[in-house]
Amino acid sequence: MPLLIKNATIVNASGLLAADVLCLDETISEIGTNLRAPAGTEVIDGSGQYLFPGFIDPHVHIHLPFMGTSAKDDWTSASRAALIGGTTTLIEMICPARGDELRAAYEVWLSHAAGKSACDYTFHMGVPRFDAQTAAVLRQIVKEGIASFKVFLAYAGAFAIEDDELFAVLQLAKQLGVIVTAHCENATLVAAMQQQLLSEGKTGPEWHEPSRPTSVEALGVQHLTTFAELTGAHVYIVHTSCAAALNEAIAARQRGVNVTVEALIQHLLLDKSYAERGDFEGAKFVMSPPLRAAENQDALWEGLATGQISTVATDHAPFDFVGQKDLGRDDFTKIPNGIPSLQDRINLLYTYGVQQKRITLPQMVDMASTQAAQLFGLFPRKGVIAVGSDADLVVFDPQYRGVIAAATHAMQVDYNAFEGTATGGRPSLVTVRGQIQVHDGKFVGTIGRGQLLRRQPGHF
Ligand code: URP
Ligand code: ZN
Ligand code: ZN
Repeated sequence: MPLLIKNATIVNASGLLAADVLCLDETISEIGTNLRAPAGTEVIDGSGQYLFPGFIDPHVHIHLPFMGTSAKDDWTSASRAALIGGTTTLIEMICPARGDELRAAYEVWLSHAAGKSACDYTFHMGVPRFDAQTAAVLRQIVKEGIASFKVFLAYAGAFAIEDDELFAVLQLAKQLGVIVTAHCENATLVAAMQQQLLSEGKTGPEWHEPSRPTSVEALGVQHLTTFAELTGAHVYIVHTSCAAALNEAIAARQRGVNVTVEALIQHLLLDKSYAERGDFEGAKFVMSPPLRAAENQDALWEGLATGQISTVATDHAPFDFVGQKDLGRDDFTKIPNGIPSLQDRINLLYTYGVQQKRITLPQMVDMASTQAAQLFGLFPRKGVIAVGSDADLVVFDPQYRGVIAAATHAMQVDYNAFEGTATGGRPSLVTVRGQIQVHDGKFVGTIGRGQLLRRQPGHF
């Protein structure tokens, strides 16, 4: 059914505009004042509300076998939660372990999403090793529309890649025009620090951060950007948590390295004191890179405001507190790493970024939608309200007042790291290609509406 959204303030990365938006056949067909609705059109009055392009989360985990367990959401629960929170496109990490066959892993990850997602989606292809078959397999996967890779410098024995293999992946990526996303922490130092702390009897979650200090992350960034410099590949540093790592990326960029930086809503708003909470409560806040000393948050916000950091993602990785996080009750190195936040990213970014004047509304759209679309080959289909773009729209009510709670969230996980946090606005209505999926903040959509988005390499 055609859809007309009237009287809202359109917010694109380029600025604000008071206009109506008419959607026909899944795309935006007209933007203007006093638009007339064809017969049978559903008309939404957006007075007093913002109209954003659907938000894109460029870093999520939904199917994730990891640390002896598996992340809790499936595509149905995750896409529903994403849409309630205003995110209309998800980019999931395909995370094969080092011993896995890459093509088989690719098919497993695709099969988990197929027919079960309410929002559109695509993947970054994880590359845990590079052997004689890898180049051919990756070339084929890129031809099938997966225009980005993922490498881990951390998690030795699981996802981590060796240096000679990293060089080969980056060479291939450069050749193919594929961007390489990377988890940057020095795996050797993490393992050594973990052993040292455990041998001193330091077993609680509060020791997770000291086992992977900011210097270890900064070294990871320096390592990756040196490889990028020598291969000419475009690299994208995921979940940058601290000033030291950000500064390494900026230094690399200043000497000509093609490097883009991602921040997470968790690192922007939570600090390491959360992981120091007693009674093992800190385990809820164990992720890698860890939550940091609070002063790093200023550096991240500053990086976003000045454009040194391009995107804000969630790295959504949901593990229950009871039954999963407690695998590490006697040993912090066994706590499954991850802090869920898929549903809350936009409300938090609006409340603590825009309302607190750390960023502007267009900047919020840029870092939570447009940049990801441009970097990962989805623009201008996604990431902008423009004629011809997909009608993925978020009508956002800035008057709404909410409080985040696990009891009411839609994510399939038994805690919320932002429990009790006030939010000053929320998506009231969300569309995916012109179909209303969220109304009055509630999911009313169709599971299975989500499409796999095929992307072309060489867009940056
Ligand atoms: O702690 C995290 N970040 N868990 C998910 C896996 C990863 O490193 O992205
Ligand atoms: Zn990671
Ligand atoms: Zn991740």
